[in-house]
Order: sequence, then structure tokens, then C-alpha cells
Amino acid sequence: MNQIITQKNNIHTTITVPGDKSISHRSIMFGALAKGTTEIEGFLMGEDCLSTISCFQKLGIDIQQQSDKIIVHGKGLHGLTAPLETLDVGNSGTTLRLISGILAAQPFCSHLTGDASIQKRPMNRVAAPLRQMGAVLKGNDHENLFAPFTIEGRRLNGITYTLPVASAQVKSAIILASLFAEGQTVIIEPEATRNHTEIMLNHMGADIKKMGNTIYCNPVSQLYGKKIIVPGDISSAAYFMVIGCICKNSTLLLKNVGINETRTGIIDVLKAMGGNIAVQNQSTVNGEKIGDIIVKTSSLQGTVIGGKDIPRLIDEIPVIAVAACFAKGTTVIKDAQELKVKESNRIHTVVSELKKFGANITETEDGMIIKGGNPLQGCTAESHQDHRIAMSMAVAGLCAYGKTMITDAECVNISFPNFYDILNNL
Ligand code: S3P
Repeated sequence: MNQIITQKNNIHTTITVPGDKSISHRSIMFGALAKGTTEIEGFLMGEDCLSTISCFQKLGIDIQQQSDKIIVHGKGLHGLTAPLETLDVGNSGTTLRLISGILAAQPFCSHLTGDASIQKRPMNRVAAPLRQMGAVLKGNDHENLFAPFTIEGRRLNGITYTLPVASAQVKSAIILASLFAEGQTVIIEPEATRNHTEIMLNHMGADIKKMGNTIYCNPVSQLYGKKIIVPGDISSAAYFMVIGCICKNSTLLLKNVGINETRTGIIDVLKAMGGNIAVQNQSTVNGEKIGDIIVKTSSLQGTVIGGKDIPRLIDEIPVIAVAACFAKGTTVIKDAQELKVKESNRIHTVVSELKKFGANITETEDGMIIKGGNPLQGCTAESHQDHRIAMSMAVAGLCAYGKTMITDAECVNISFPNFYDILNNL
């Protein structure tokens, strides 16, 4: 499907973005491992999270939709059953990495696969610590693990592990394996990454503590099903934060967005660029902070983004690059080599697509350099079947002169199924 986008200004509206993708995945997985019912409100019905539901149904978990809620009938820590079919995670790296931590400890064997993009995403980062814990993961190439692969469940032992890359997915896989392991597991993060796993598991009865950059996971005998309210996804809200800043004469109010500090790098960066953005009505639901975000037309300046801020905004870099095209001066994004192993090589796809709009943008080894301030011109932009590239280019198109066409535009269904409806109604 192709999507046409035209320029818009004078936007004054209130938007509720769909549920957080990271929290939605975790609510299904942890609900499956808990005793009793987990009732999920605000679950993201995007393709990635539906892949997680389908995998856990194949592992014997009853998961039902009841009006606007998802109900997971958990079977406790030892209730999963051997899947009769291959578990297909589709495009979802979060499903593949996190489920591997769980399956590594089950008394059965599982086969895992996914789409063409997932088959290129590195799994060594998960296999290395899980193998140290005693797990058996077997792919076509033992040195470099990629999907499809097989996990033979084993009895695991706790380890102390320093993550070589700051990755919440890898951290979460180890934490999940630790639930089944003998003894304590200790994980040291090079930089803080999103902590939704720790928050939700503790909410369900786990014993996970953080001191500095070290996470201590102590085994517990049981997790308990809970009601989970999923906050709006700040990564989805980010597109509208940038629209609010760069479209002329506009004010956008984004309701009930998750503002967990491990995710709010986008707000800090837009503020540092001179963005007129504020958080109101803060509260906490199931351990996660939420708030309303108000954003108004701003005159943005270039900035430097790198270091420990990168994990706090890793998924927002494509749309930050769009904001930087509309900012005066130079923006440098560095230390972001992880972008190369996302749904697409996002350093390359962002730079090559924004160039088509006439942006002055250069690819570097670990990020990009953007010289902003010149108007963008509508063009035909490819999504590379990457949802965040499609949405970022749609934001560029909304603020560029003329008409923009996004090709393979339907990939937004991965994380934000009603994205174009909201965009068209602005
Ligand atoms: C996610 C963690 C991040 C992020 C991904 C979702 C998660 O990946 O890019 O979209 O839910 O844990 P890494 O932790 O591998 O950087």
C-alpha cells in the first residue's frame, strides 16, 4: 500500500496514542507465567504484540479478548506446554529475545522463526548469556545465531553477566531465565535501559532490585496475575511531539502517555533543541509513570545526542532526525550504532530517505550529521518495511512542500495501526 501525505499547518487537537508496545508484550508473557488472571487494559493491538499472543497460545496459554480488554489465564511459572508448531514471532525482536529467556528453562524443545528482517537480527547477544546459564540454542551456524533456531530447555543456573551492549531486550531475556534458575542472577548494564520488565515482574511478585547499574534477580516460587493498565506509547507519541514542534501555528495535547524516565529521552532532546513541550497531570499506574504532553510550534536549534541518552531514545532517532532537518544549525547523533540492527539499518534508511526530501544529512559510522533549516520538498519515500521509518517519513511529508508518497506504508500496523487515520484527521 502507498500512502499520500500533504503539508499541514494550524493543527490544534488532542490525541490518544495506542498502548505501549514494550509493556503490552510483557503483560502477555508475564501474565502467562503468573498464577491466576491478568487483565490488560489499553493493550496494543499491533502486529508485533499479536505475534506474542499467538506464541503464548501455542505454549498452551488461554488468552481471550473481552470487549476492550485482553485476559490472560496464567498457568504459573511451570505451566507452559510444548508447542506443536514452530513459534513465529513475525517482525518482533522483543518477542524473539524475551521468549528465548523463558524457553531456555522449559522441560521441552521449541523451534522459533520470524520474517526476513528478524532473520537478520543478531541473536548471539541473547544466546551468549543464556548458554552461560546452561541453555541450549541451536541455529544453522553455531558461531552466529540467527532465526530460525531451536531451544532445548535445560535446568539453568544463576550467573553474573555484564551486558556488552545496552539492550533492554537482552537484559529482559536474562531476567526471565533467572526466574527459573538456581541461585541469584546479577546483571550489569553499561547504560540504563528501559526497565518495564523489572517494574512489571516486581508488581507480580518477583524479587528484582537495582543498585547503580547492577540488577539483582532473586528466585521466587510464584508470580501472581494482576490488572495491568498499559500507558500510551511514548515512541508513538514522539511522531506527534515532532509534528507539534515543526508544523506552523500548532498545539497538540497527547493524553496518558508513559513517561518512565528510561524512555523520556525524546522529551529531553526536544527541550534541549528549544521545543515548547511540557508534561502535565502526572500519575502512576502499575508502577509506570504516565502524564499528558502538550507541545506547541517551536523554533528548534541543532543539538548533540549521544552516550547514555541513546538507550532512552533509541526508537525515536528516526523522527528526531526529521526534527533536526527543521532546526537551525547542525545536529550530531553519535554512539547510535545499535540502529544498524533494528527492523532495518536505521542509520542508512533514515539518511537515504531524508536525502530524497532534499535534507542535508550525512551517514556516519555510529549515527548521522544533519544540517537543518532548509525547507524539505515532498517526494516518494520508501518505508523499507520498517514501521518507524514509514511514520518518520510521513512526519517529514506533513511538513514538507508538495506531495509525499510513502511506499509499503502498511508496516505501521506493527506498532501503530491507526497512525494514518490520526494523521489524516489532524
Ligand atoms: C525494546 C527494547 C529496545 C527497543 C525495542 C523494544 C523492549 O531494543 O529498540 O523497540 O521492549 O525491550 P534493545 O533493548 O535491543 O535496544
